[in-house]
Amino acid sequence: MFRNISDIEKDAFEEIQKAQDISDLEKARIKYLGRRGIITDIMSRLPELSPEQRPLVGKQANDLKVKLIALLSEKQRQLKDTVQTETKEKLDLSLPGIKEEPGHEHPLTITIKKICDIFVGIGFKVVEGPEIETEYNNFTGLNIPIEHPSRDVFDTFYLATRSSMPARPAGGLDTRKNENRGSRIEDRLLLRSHTSPVQIRAMSKYKPPLAVVVPGKVYRPDAVDASHSFMFHQVEGFLVDSDVKFSHLKGVLTHFCKEMFGKDIKMRFRPHFFPFTEPSAEVDISCIICKGKGCSVCGRKGWLEILGSGMIHPNVFKHVGYDSKKYTGFAFGMGVERIAMLKYGINDIRLFFENDLRFLKQF
Ligand code: DAH
Repeated sequence: MFRNISDIEKDAFEEIQKAQDISDLEKARIKYLGRRGIITDIMSRLPELSPEQRPLVGKQANDLKVKLIALLSEKQRQLKDTVQTETKEKLDLSLPGIKEEPGHEHPLTITIKKICDIFVGIGFKVVEGPEIETEYNNFTGLNIPIEHPSRDVFDTFYLATRSSMPARPAGGLDTRKNENRGSRIEDRLLLRSHTSPVQIRAMSKYKPPLAVVVPGKVYRPDAVDASHSFMFHQVEGFLVDSDVKFSHLKGVLTHFCKEMFGKDIKMRFRPHFFPFTEPSAEVDISCIICKGKGCSVCGRKGWLEILGSGMIHPNVFKHVGYDSKKYTGFAFGMGVERIAMLKYGINDIRLFFENDLRFLKQF
């Protein structure tokens, strides 16, 4: 009538031992001890047995039931332990965490801020202008003549507008004469090739005294290499007041260079030409690598050119409506990448724009 109890015990033990997880174990429990389980079934059918068999089988079944309950709870404890060890292994609290890396300013931003801070410290205000400029502000207002090579399409990015396109013969001089000034070619839009047009904007808007620095992006159609980029940054500066002299320019720029590159830096003002300043000078600092002895960075000259400057040309004043008998002023302009490259010893301008974290993390 019943399967041999010792066979049932063998099967039950085997199933419980084999259980991989709690749900396997629960299946085994239901199969043997559940309401319709094998042992429960035997118990409920004991009355069908003969009076001699009844106590015998009853005892065997009950003993097995007790054993299975013990075995099930032992196995359950084992399974819980393994689960815990596994989770513990997954959550190894001794492993180093994932480090949150806070971002920081780009080396060019650091340099721009440093440059501007130096000038702000001596009373200059920071002003910005648009990257899309008029041909007038970028060139004409700054006394850059119509035939100047920098106005060529090979040196300036002109923006196509419906009514006007560069009419200049590529590479050659523009045959249009100065009487074209003020006509529609002046309204052409371009990507500013320097930050100097903000001189025109600021002076047209404000009356002297004026001391302004202008950081920003500029664009030139140059082929990209280690020292050229079609987009780079400049900081322009200018100061207008009554009785401003070249010595003021020298004083301000000397202060700047010493703050930027250190007190021991030497400077020289080399005569140069810019259409918007007269007289004009380029400023060199003693090479910060070789201290003026001559090395590969300064091309064995001992000097590094860092900016252009001069006394603002009376024609510029005329264009913005300043009386050049009453006011004088100086202006200067520098390339931010060049300054950053010198300051940090960087030999390739492209590094600034490649977003390589191995480079950027060093600042
Ligand atoms: N705008 C000039 C350039 O891009 C730099 C410059 C030179 C600015 C002399 C000035 C200046 O204000 O006086 O090369």
